[in-house]
Amino acid sequence: MKILVTGSNGLLGQKLVYALRDRKDIELIATARGENRVKEQNGYVFETMDLTDESHVREVINNYRPDCIIHTAAMTNVDACELDSPTCQLNNVGVVGYLLEACKPLGTHFIHLSTDFVFDGENGPYKETDKPNPQSVYAQSKLDSEKLVEESGLPWTVLRTIIIYGVTDDAQRSNVVLWTKNSLEQGKKITVITDQFRGPTLAEDLAEACIQAALRKAQGIFHISGKEVMPIINISYEVADYFKLDKSFIQPITTAELNQPAKRPLKTGFIIDKAIRELGYKPHTLREGIQIVEEQLKRKMI
Ligand SMILES: NC(=O)c1ccc[n+]([C@@H]2O[C@H](COP(=O)([O-])OP(=O)(O)OC[C@H]3O[C@@H](n4cnc5c(N)ncnc54)[C@H](OP(=O)(O)O)[C@@H]3O)[C@@H](O)[C@H]2O)c1
Repeated sequence: MKILVTGSNGLLGQKLVYALRDRKDIELIATARGENRVKEQNGYVFETMDLTDESHVREVINNYRPDCIIHTAAMTNVDACELDSPTCQLNNVGVVGYLLEACKPLGTHFIHLSTDFVFDGENGPYKETDKPNPQSVYAQSKLDSEKLVEESGLPWTVLRTIIIYGVTDDAQRSNVVLWTKNSLEQGKKITVITDQFRGPTLAEDLAEACIQAALRKAQGIFHISGKEVMPIINISYEVADYFKLDKSFIQPITTAELNQPAKRPLKTGFIIDKAIRELGYKPHTLREGIQIVEEQLKRKMI
């Protein structure tokens, strides 16, 4: 099976490259904006592909004719999306249209990444059939792109996920686990939200769900996250406990006090029974995930 991954420099993208690059049953084409930032560059093909360049997107897809595309690339900074709606619209919706149009003659299975933010956070944890009600530009863009995928006529899968954490080869993008660890180790105070509930997701678990969706040709929407739903501040507490760091540097703050540009849903979290049943999904606990992060950080220091 030939799989093309978009956004291969991103957190999920890098995990997909590592999980797929040496598999004998899969030919991997990794694509990203700019240079390849993944350290290991053997065992797969890499193509620079800025998805906003429609003719280049068509050319690359026609050239490789993938059986499946795992579309991880997106403008993921929620506040940046709020402040620059046209760029968000182009990168999160427009480019999905370009990809789908290029895939249509080939019948490519399209696997699309989406978010818990499609929900308003009034009634989490959510199952796949619950009604979305996006509250921000980013959230609306992800829901709009879901709709494009569903109406494309192609075989499709939408994998919605929540707060992804993990280690990448470059330090360009942090996440709550690394940010908490690094800040507390440097003796920096951090303020962390108390009243937003989430199910943190280990990047490797999400990558495995993408791969299973591809191999099983799964169809429809799937909710993919960790099993535990907790206030975001508890993720930071768990990190501090695990690494025996000083919790007093973690200062609570409410959503109202933080007053970020984009509105966030308060209580999300997912019911993941469908993914367990149909994708064989087996997420790690947050503690196990932090342990995996620790092992990876140690290996990078060698
Ligand atoms: N991270 C989360 O907590 C979270 C939660 C819910 C859902 N999701 C969804 O899950 C998916 C993967 O997230 P992630 O954490 O892996 O994101 P990420 O680390 O921010 O990676 C996204 C990648 O997309 C690339 N990209 C953006 N615009 C592009 C374009 N026009 N052409 C080519 N590449 C482009 C970025 O390139 P550069 O590196 O060059 O900027 C980046 O490498 C996304 O669809 C996101 O919306 C993420």
